[in-house]
Amino acid sequence: MSTSIDSTLSETRSFPVPADFARQANLDAEMFARLNQQAAEDPDRFWGDLARRHLEWAVPFQLVLEADQAPFYRWFADGQLNVAHNCVDRHLRGASRHKAALIWEGEDGAVRTLTYAQLHREMQLFANALKHQGVRKGDRVAIYMPMVPEAVIAMLACARIGAIHTVVFGGFSAEALKDRLEDTQARVLITADGAWRAGKVVPLKRHADQALLREHGHAVQRVIVLRRTGTEIDMQDGRDIWWGDATAAMSADCPALPMQAEDPLFILYTSGSTGKPKGVFHSSAGYLLWSMLTTRWVFDVKPEDVYWCTADVGWITGHSYVVYGPLANGATVFLYEGAPMYPQPDRFWAMIARHGISILYTAPTAIRAFMKMGDEWPRRHDLSSLRLLGSVGEPMNPEAWMWYHQTIGGGRCPVADTWWQTETGGHMIAPLPGVTANKPGSCALPLPGISARIVDDQGNFVRAPDVGGYLVIDRPWPGMLRGIWGDPARYLENYWARFDHRYYVAGDSARRDADDYFWMMGRIDDVLNVSGHRLGTAEVESALVAHPAVAEAAVVGVPHDIKGEALCAFVVLKHRHQGDDRDELGAALRAQVTELIGAIARPDDIRFTDTLPKTRSGKIMRRLLRSIARGETIVQDTSTLEDEGILQQLGTAKKS
Ligand code: WTA
Repeated sequence: MSTSIDSTLSETRSFPVPADFARQANLDAEMFARLNQQAAEDPDRFWGDLARRHLEWAVPFQLVLEADQAPFYRWFADGQLNVAHNCVDRHLRGASRHKAALIWEGEDGAVRTLTYAQLHREMQLFANALKHQGVRKGDRVAIYMPMVPEAVIAMLACARIGAIHTVVFGGFSAEALKDRLEDTQARVLITADGAWRAGKVVPLKRHADQALLREHGHAVQRVIVLRRTGTEIDMQDGRDIWWGDATAAMSADCPALPMQAEDPLFILYTSGSTGKPKGVFHSSAGYLLWSMLTTRWVFDVKPEDVYWCTADVGWITGHSYVVYGPLANGATVFLYEGAPMYPQPDRFWAMIARHGISILYTAPTAIRAFMKMGDEWPRRHDLSSLRLLGSVGEPMNPEAWMWYHQTIGGGRCPVADTWWQTETGGHMIAPLPGVTANKPGSCALPLPGISARIVDDQGNFVRAPDVGGYLVIDRPWPGMLRGIWGDPARYLENYWARFDHRYYVAGDSARRDADDYFWMMGRIDDVLNVSGHRLGTAEVESALVAHPAVAEAAVVGVPHDIKGEALCAFVVLKHRHQGDDRDELGAALRAQVTELIGAIARPDDIRFTDTLPKTRSGKIMRRLLRSIARGETIVQDTSTLEDEGILQQLGTAKKS
């Protein structure tokens, strides 16, 4: 068995840092070099200085890192602070008091703005309401809400009184909500009558009622319901209360409770490749420090920016880069409630023009979907307010990168392709916009303080350029997960056991090029093995997306007598090319892969489809495609699938 993963695609385009961007950046080349040096020489001092400088402490810490129970690390553990205080109260001094903290646009076009002072008031009212409903420090509170300011208010209110929130994405089913309520034993559930999505109502409260059936093993005593859609719902006597009634008699003064640095801030479920979702939990101080610093470094957030991260607060991206990171920096955060292409495919671009958005952070799945619709939609709008673009969630194919950079960013905006995970709390590998030249498809260099490595099957460092292997982190960092809720054994098993607890194992494969830039190659579980060559999915998919007719592609392996595995590619065409001759296209795509990578990666089977099966956070579900390509019956859990109808379509997808 080979010990490394072959790298095949060589992308040579490079875009230097624009000089005017570099001049004004929060982090310049000199500071970057200094930070890296400090982190290497004296990590305790490096992290301790940053934590003292960027956070406000109620009780200062003496200890930086405790590693005696490694890999259960503890950071700043004898210090105390409150996360909500750091995100809101400290911006009330001076001019930022009356600046917009949140600008929200509803799907129907309604706009609401909350200044920091208003957010402060709403957060305290709701924090008092939670206390009045019996919520105490350490209790779990579930939040199952639409993307409205109250979702952010609820999260901050929990943080203010030391309750541990668990946000459940509003697109999840009653079943998924039930599992999370059971696992966290949340006492209070905060929801809404419904959520707007593409002009229709998602009946959140009805889902909640199903999840709360008495026979389920939950601990919910109180349900707080926000009126959003006006949908008729059942309010259960003694259990359910309207948001407005819960806050009506409350005082708008609720002091922030100082928390131990290591007290959990939240639990967030992430699906693994096997088994039930894992409840990843994060700390208060370390998590806040890392989400704040990365927002400052990677997004270069400034007081005058209007910053938009398109993620829902139900994902880690929403936690770190809609709520905690930007608010800790005193930024103006834009929130959008509804579907991205509603009522038309130019909704994003219209909002960017309307609100003067300067920083946009979204996902490759969205970028590819917009690319598929054609350039005419963004062209209708003035996107000149944009100065920085970001991406997260999957490898960004170089052609999707080029489209984003040119068509959306007008060729002038640095692009931050950020690699990180629910578990890492914040960005780990990402370009710094004032420092690092961009290479399309690469997430560039580890951030200061982050020690990312590539290792082979045996755990030895791979030093040669362009040789793929396991991506691992070999030093702790403050934003790292503190465990799996209620299951310490699973934490060890999932992230540390593979190489004898020496490294945090991300589960991704990656390579580093001769400039030390990282290139993500896909999940380790999805690695393909053709004639003894181990190939990551990302490079083959990028070679397919490089064809002008292709919007999106997913590649999986099927058993093959001679080669071990043969490749099967699922391909989504751009709208303009949907009438093209499929046989000709199939031949052209095989030729393209052969030219860009080599005959080894030439797909035996190419299947055209309208969409790919994805998780609700937009990740392609390759395991499912693997079963389909192999003609197996689907045994995987499809409850996280975005659109179940897709299975039927793919089952009968035509072979080329
Ligand atoms: C993938 C999202 C390539 C990767 C913050 C990782 C990426 C998983 C990138 C985590 C990127 C995320 N390039 N792959 N820039 N960003 N991934 O927990 O496989 O939803 O392990 O966190 O997404 O997904 P999660």
